[in-house]
Amino acid sequence: MLRPVALRTWRRDISSWLDRWFPKAPAKSVVALKTPIKVNLVAGKTYRWCVCGRSKKQPFCDGSHFFQRTGLSPLKFKAQETRTVALCTCKATQRPPYCDGTHRSEQVQKAEVGSPL
Ligand code: FES
Repeated sequence: MLRPVALRTWRRDISSWLDRWFPKAPAKSVVALKTPIKVNLVAGKTYRWCVCGRSKKQPFCDGSHFFQRTGLSPLKFKAQETRTVALCTCKATQRPPYCDGTHRSEQVQKAEVGSPL
């Protein structure tokens, strides 16, 4: 049986570990690029669009959201048809994962790549 001091230390250690790996408040998405990326989607295939903006494989997730402990998750979607689409990389689109032209806004164009809006 753990002594009270050891138990308190153990709880503090576990709690700080949990806070580090599973933040209570998610980080903000950052601007990855200021122009969309055109990709060929294949019907029936599932894709994971990067929500956090930290992936090095834009516009898709490379797991950086987890390793940088953002508390964010990628958007998983299935292509309904085979076609070329423009996927958002500024992470400000109102219809994710597709580009809606928001990257042309002054707010996005003035923002620094790698910074939140
Ligand atoms: S790396 Fe950005 S959501 Fe996974």
